[in-house]
Amino acid sequence: MVLAMLSAWPISEPPATPRELNTRLFGLEFRNPVGLAAGLDKDAAAPAAWQSLGFGFAEVGTITPRPQAGTSRPRIWRLPEQRALINQLGFPSKGMEAVGRRIEQFRAKGLKLRIGINVGPNKDTPASRVAADYAMLARGLGAIADFMVINLSSPNTPGLRAFQSPERLREIRSAIDEPRRSTVCYLVKLSPDIDATELGAICDTIVQLGFAGIVATNTTLARTELGIAWDQAGGLSGRPLRERSRNMIRAIRRRIGAQIPIIGAGGIASADDAYGHIRAGASLVELYTGLIYEGPTLAASLNAGLAALLRRDGFSSISEAVGVDA
Ligand SMILES: Cc1cc2nc3c(=O)[nH]c(=O)nc-3n(C[C@H](O)[C@H](O)[C@H](O)COP(=O)(O)O)c2cc1C
Repeated sequence: MVLAMLSAWPISEPPATPRELNTRLFGLEFRNPVGLAAGLDKDAAAPAAWQSLGFGFAEVGTITPRPQAGTSRPRIWRLPEQRALINQLGFPSKGMEAVGRRIEQFRAKGLKLRIGINVGPNKDTPASRVAADYAMLARGLGAIADFMVINLSSPNTPGLRAFQSPERLREIRSAIDEPRRSTVCYLVKLSPDIDATELGAICDTIVQLGFAGIVATNTTLARTELGIAWDQAGGLSGRPLRERSRNMIRAIRRRIGAQIPIIGAGGIASADDAYGHIRAGASLVELYTGLIYEGPTLAASLNAGLAALLRRDGFSSISEAVGVDA
């Protein structure tokens, strides 16, 4: 409903952001490091609105090859006291052709926002064809993305998380590299529930295979940090996820150093939250649940707050603060 209203937002100049927030990654300039996380704008309904609200980039999707409806309702639950959401959406998507056309239309009208395109397989795709789905998505959408995110970590598509294993990552990489090598960057989005003993090998494989970055993290199936009994299945996001995501960002940074950048997500609702993820190792940050509880001015206030925190600590740019706590 709100998205339908936002989709009519006219394209206007992005608001000015402090110069120390400019950052260069994947060969691209980002006006600031605060992005919209995947899942809120699955069909690229409102990129002009995200640009006007001060986001430095938006990850649209998850987009699937063919249109699909996702799980039946209800499929999102609010936990306001915990500042959390639980969702079981299961990738509702208008499909790659329709969403691709929409992104092209925004580009043609002069949209400046950086767009990450997050992709995933259709629900009825058998495990043996999942890599082929990613290949199709890469072919169909690679040319219009600033970067692409291979989503291997949503808990609501059965079996998807198994594709985070080194063998499966190799399979996906060779599928998206065929039939011709595209110039777009591919990142991998990871779950915060990966076992600490497996994380190292997964990160090493991601680097070896030439992926351009890691998005950490998706939602969690764990309820340890929730603090209340809640038996609804689905992915938990928001404040209870924050430390789990940050620990994972730190662990990835310790393992791979600065070889490839991390985009940090999970429980960001203030400039301090965003700064903590950056100091743990994230070069960019993204949020979804914080926007639901804090409202549409959040990206602008995070940018103002981040600039103040950098100045306080004597950093002249975001990149100087990345990973200082790792
Ligand atoms: C309702 C909802 C839907 C989501 N859908 C997707 C999705 O389609 N693809 C994806 O990669 N992540 C999806 N996510 C995960 C977010 O992109 C993000 O990784 C996670 O929610 C942690 O950030 P947050 O605590 O700021 O929400 C979704 C999250 C929520 C709350």
